[in-house]
Amino acid sequence: MVSIASVGRPTPVVRSGHVQLSISLDESNKSTLQAQIFDQIRAMILNGQLRGDDPLPTTRELSAQLGVSRNTAVLAYERLIAEGYIRTKPYVGTFVSPDLPDTAFLSSASEKTAPAAPPPPEDNAFGGAPRELRTHRLADPDRRRLAADFWVGRPDARSFPLKAWSQHIKARLKSAGARLTSYNDPAGLLELRQAIAKHLAPARGVVCDADQIIIVGGCQDGFNLVGRLLVTPGSTAVVESPCYQGAAFVLESLGAKLHPVPIDRDGLDVTKLPQVEGAVAYVTPSHQYPVGVTLSLQRRIELLAWATQYDAYIMEDDYDSDFRFVGSPLTALKGLDRNERVIYLGTFSKCMGPGLRLGYVVAPRRLVESFRRMKMLMNNGQSWLEQAAMADFMASGEFGRHLRRIRQLYRERRDALLTALQKHFGECEIYGEQAGMHLVWKLPERFPSAAEVEAKGLAAGVGVCSLATGSALRFDQNDGGDRLLMLGFVALTEKEIEDGIARLATALHS
Ligand SMILES: Cc1ncc(COP(=O)(O)O)c(C=O)c1O
Repeated sequence: MVSIASVGRPTPVVRSGHVQLSISLDESNKSTLQAQIFDQIRAMILNGQLRGDDPLPTTRELSAQLGVSRNTAVLAYERLIAEGYIRTKPYVGTFVSPDLPDTAFLSSASEKTAPAAPPPPEDNAFGGAPRELRTHRLADPDRRRLAADFWVGRPDARSFPLKAWSQHIKARLKSAGARLTSYNDPAGLLELRQAIAKHLAPARGVVCDADQIIIVGGCQDGFNLVGRLLVTPGSTAVVESPCYQGAAFVLESLGAKLHPVPIDRDGLDVTKLPQVEGAVAYVTPSHQYPVGVTLSLQRRIELLAWATQYDAYIMEDDYDSDFRFVGSPLTALKGLDRNERVIYLGTFSKCMGPGLRLGYVVAPRRLVESFRRMKMLMNNGQSWLEQAAMADFMASGEFGRHLRRIRQLYRERRDALLTALQKHFGECEIYGEQAGMHLVWKLPERFPSAAEVEAKGLAAGVGVCSLATGSALRFDQNDGGDRLLMLGFVALTEKEIEDGIARLATALHS
C-alpha cells in the first residue's frame, strides 16, 4: 500500500506552492490506480474536504508523491475534468471546479465532515419538512382467498375481451415501424383521441375536438396533470365530503388546502361552496364516490355558475359512467359547460381494466396547450402500443359491443345483489344502485358499524368494504359514513353474489 500525507488531515496541505492530498493507493485493489485516484479526489470534493477553487497538485507532483507514472495521474485528472469536478487554468494550475456536480449525493461516511445542509427555501409550501404523502388503497392481496369478495372498483376479469385485444396488439406490432423506438405525441395517439371524441358525444353529451383530448395513464394520472397545472401551494381544492382518496391526496400533495363540501341525496351541497377565487373543485357528479348519489340538474347548473363567478375549474371524474342501469344515460357536467370551466376525466380502467393504465382528459380550449406541455414534462405521453390497440378496438365497433355486453352482465349482477340483500336482510336502504360498479347499503340500527360488519364478514370469508377500506376519505366523523357499507358487484357471478350475501347474513345474525 502506498500512502502519502498523513491520514486524518482532511483539508489539503499547501506547502511552498505545493499541494498534498491524503490519498491511499492499494495495489491489491481490483480498481486501477488511476480509478483509485479519481475516486478519492472525487470523494474529497463531494464530502466538502475540497471546496470550489481549491488548488490541486500538478500531475507531475501527484505522480511523484504517489509513486505512480505521470500518465496514471494525467488520466485520473482527465476524467475528473471530463465529469466537471476539476478544471485547469492555463499557466496557473489545476483547481476544484466552482460549480460542482453531484453535491447532493454525500456519502454517509463523509456526512460527519460535510457542511450543514442549507435551510429549506422559505417559499416551500411544506415548511421545509419532507412531504408526508397519504396514499389510497389499490387492492388487498390478503383478500384473494375469500369465498366472495365484494371489493369495489374492480371490473370482471373474465369479461376482458382478450382475444380481440391480442389480435389488435399483434397487428399493431407487425406494422409498428419506428413508432416503438420513437417518442410520439405527448398528448396521445391522434386515432385514439379521435375515437374518444366520437364516443363521448353520444355516450356522455360531451362535444369536443380530438385536439382537446390528452391521453393519460388513467384518472390518477389525470388528477396529477390537472393538479400540477392548476394547484398552487395554499390554493383551495374543493372536494366532496366524503370523497375519493386518490384525487384528494394528489391535490393535498401539491400543497392545496382541501375544502370539504358535504353531500346529500342530490349530491354536492352547492350552497356550501367557498366564496374564494381560483379554486379547483374535484367532483363525481354521475355516481358520487363513495356514496353513489347523482348530482341533480339544478345543482349542476349552480356548480357551473359558481365556477364562472369565482374563476374556478371543476375536475369532473366520470370514472364509471359507462354503466347506467336506470333511465337513459345522463349528460356529463362537461356537456352543460358553456363557459369552459370543466375539465373532464374519463378512464378505461372500469370498462376494460386498470392494468391498461389508459384514460383521458378533455381540456377547455384555452388550457389545451398548457395540458400538452405539462403532460410532456410529466412523462412524454403514454405507451404507443396500448393506445394503438385501443384505437383499433374502438374504431372496429368492438368497444361498443363490449360495453353493451358488460353493461347487461353488470345489470344482472346488480339485480342479483339487490335480490340477495332483500332476501337475507329484508328491506334495505340502498344508495347508488342506479349506476356504476358498486352500491352502498346504509346499515340498519340493529347492526354494528360498517367497520365491524366488514370484520365479521372477513372472518366468514366474505369481503365487504367500509368507507375507509373502499378508498373513501371522510372529513366529518358525524356524517353517518360509519354506517355505510360499500358492495362491488361486477366481478362476482350471480351465484357467488347469492352465496356471499347468505354467508354474510349468517355471520351477522349469529
Ligand atoms: C372515483 C374514482 N376515480 C378514479 C379512479 C382511478 O381510476 P384510474 O384507474 O383511471 O386511475 C378510481 C379507482 O378506483 C375511482 O374509484
